Amino acid sequence: MRFTVVTIFPEAFDSFLRASLLGKAVAQGLVQVDFVDPRAFAADKHHTVDDTPYGGGDGMVIKVDPLVAALESVGHDPDLSPHRVLLTPQGEPLAQRHLVELLDRRHVVLVCGRYEGFDERIRTFVHQELSLGDFVLNGGEVAAMAIIDGVSRLVPGVIGKASSLTTESHGEGLLEYPQYTRPREFRGLAVPEVLVEGNHARIDRWRRLQMLVRTRQRRPDLWERYQPSGEDRTILAEVDGREDRAELAGRAYVALLHYPVYDKGKRIVTTAITNLDLHDIARSSRTFGLGGYFVVTPVASQQELARRILAHWKEGHGASYNEDRAEALALLEVVESLEQVLTEVEAREGKRPLTVATSAAARPGQVTGAEVRRWLGSGQPVVIMMGTGWGLATEVLERADLALRPVHGGAAYNHLSVRSAAAILLDRLFGLREET
Ligand SMILES: C[S@@+](CC[C@H](N)C(=O)[O-])C[C@H]1O[C@@H](n2cnc3c(N)ncnc32)[C@H](O)[C@@H]1O
Repeated sequence: MRFTVVTIFPEAFDSFLRASLLGKAVAQGLVQVDFVDPRAFAADKHHTVDDTPYGGGDGMVIKVDPLVAALESVGHDPDLSPHRVLLTPQGEPLAQRHLVELLDRRHVVLVCGRYEGFDERIRTFVHQELSLGDFVLNGGEVAAMAIIDGVSRLVPGVIGKASSLTTESHGEGLLEYPQYTRPREFRGLAVPEVLVEGNHARIDRWRRLQMLVRTRQRRPDLWERYQPSGEDRTILAEVDGREDRAELAGRAYVALLHYPVYDKGKRIVTTAITNLDLHDIARSSRTFGLGGYFVVTPVASQQELARRILAHWKEGHGASYNEDRAEALALLEVVESLEQVLTEVEAREGKRPLTVATSAAARPGQVTGAEVRRWLGSGQPVVIMMGTGWGLATEVLERADLALRPVHGGAAYNHLSVRSAAAILLDRLFGLREET
């Protein structure tokens, strides 16, 4: 690969061409860089290459005649006419694809400006204009160095492992995945577990996911042009599903009703609060990312009991003994009626929630979890009503906006505890289906 740099400051390249991988590539003859100084083609004895602008204005302009003479002096193979690139902030912003194209040209002439820029007529004598970016440099030399550096690393033999060229940023229109090296932990910042487990299939998948997600987040412009493969889509669907579920669950609330519910004899009663229901449904609600959990009882002494249990775990000895429990129970609120639940959720979400009834019995019109998620997806908050005792009273079931299909096993027996039913229903609604 050959570069000819047209510049009045060739000395700016001295150490650049000697250092590191590029220095080695030059020494091995894989990359050849030569210079032409337009001053050598100036007509006057002072070797002047700039002059004042026609029409007046600040600064000096690079003259077209010595520059074209310099370009025309560049020696080349008879079968290979050099590709001339003007370096200017008005050119196309440099991207990886330009470097790949320049590699194919085999001999590239990089024309560096200075001062206020070039006499406009130089544009007739070049093939392409490139800019390093939307900013102005004092001269084109830094841009020329960027191009020499970027193209050289694509020349076979310059970089040890050619495969690193395809996975790195912009290799295939994506940013690279995050990289780590020793130490495994630095000031509390740990290397992701997947990278140290040694499962290469998992590492490859994780890296691919990072490339996709990073590019989508950081560079929407690149993402718009990128065409994800089927495999890419599968990998992304997994995280998107996870984010979606978490977002939907945040608008969902559980209400555990102790009234009006049936007793064994189908009479409407108020049941007693159960310590396990407070804990376990709070833990399930927290695990699935719900917005809140309401325990509903009209009996003041029962409310008082529930609040005392809560205070123990949220503020008392329990809080320091088990912080995770306090985190789950922070979701729990004790209220006296379903109406109070709806008012509270409306105040939080800015919208009256839909009520979703649950029951162990199959009835016509019951919906699947997908239907509830559809409502949540439209921004609608929902309250999932769970009944204690022998289940929610008919008046609650009939007034509900939606009813969820019951949990069924293959056996004739169907008497789950409300805690178990809540956990299973929440898993159906918001659980991620991963291979187990
Ligand atoms: C001070 S600049 C002239 C800018 C010019 N007056 C303009 O506004 O377009 C001098 C020279 O630096 C080089 N240069 C400056 N910014 C550049 C960039 N972003 N990319 C490539 N070359 C640049 C060009 O060769 C340019 O002719």
